Amino acid sequence: MTAAVGIIGGTGALGQGLALRLALTGAEVTIGSRDASRAEAEALALNERNQGPPMRGTDNATVASAHDLLFVCVPFASQLAIAKTIRKELRPGAIVVDATVPLATAIGGRPTQMLGAWRGSAAEQLADALSSRARVVATLHTVAASALAEVDAKLDEDLLVCGDDADAKATVAALLGRIGGLRCVDCGKLEAARMIEPLTALLIGVNGRYRAHAGIRLTGLAAAGWPVAQE
Ligand SMILES: NC(=O)c1ccc[n+]([C@@H]2O[C@H](COP(=O)([O-])OP(=O)(O)OC[C@H]3O[C@@H](n4cnc5c(N)ncnc54)[C@H](OP(=O)(O)O)[C@@H]3O)[C@@H](O)[C@H]2O)c1
Repeated sequence: MTAAVGIIGGTGALGQGLALRLALTGAEVTIGSRDASRAEAEALALNERNQGPPMRGTDNATVASAHDLLFVCVPFASQLAIAKTIRKELRPGAIVVDATVPLATAIGGRPTQMLGAWRGSAAEQLADALSSRARVVATLHTVAASALAEVDAKLDEDLLVCGDDADAKATVAALLGRIGGLRCVDCGKLEAARMIEPLTALLIGVNGRYRAHAGIRLTGLAAAGWPVAQE
């Protein structure tokens, strides 16, 4: 199966690393940006290191209109503005994967501290902003962009995945599970993002102290990680 995915904010650190890893699995990746020419330039630059299908780049709205599966990789401070940009462009039933973390950096604070999101989490805020136009799944919060970008280095960590639509969650887990060294763990409903998002701030602190790219690994789960029975 060849997946076609769009990455909103794909010019950033997380978007670039994710794009390279997804392309390695054979996915056709389109980089999105507020500025189409920046996205095109980033896609060209990534293609120099890309070992998968060639990437393309265009503006975020066009990316949203052209894909059934989108990743949103933008800072918390810009998440709602981006939601407005893509909302009307979304295809019916589109899956939108949110990686946003409400770090205090959004208001000049520390990356090891969190802000409160009115809806409980950044993911729930995005789901609210997109209303019923998208099936929002939240994940990727605990993987370092720099670890993704080093495509020759082996990953060895879990992705904590949550969302209210079981099929959407399983689709995302199947896609990301094709990235070598990543195991997706079903963490339940989208509201679980309230517990997952702060782990980023925790890991940023740990990584600073240990000068590492630590991720999360849950023990005691079956190797496949994804449960047969869905909620
Ligand atoms: N970096 C990580 O290791 C990591 C890991 C897990 C989760 N996350 C989360 O993933 C999200 C993206 O992280 P990142 O490190 O990739 O962020 P980033 O590099 O700072 O920004 C990503 C992209 O968002 C767009 N953007 C930046 N400022 C914006 C603004 N004011 N308004 C609209 N768009 C703006 C930019 O794209 P254009 O200028 O091209 O539009 C930028 O390239 C964040 O919420 C972060 O907390 C990051």
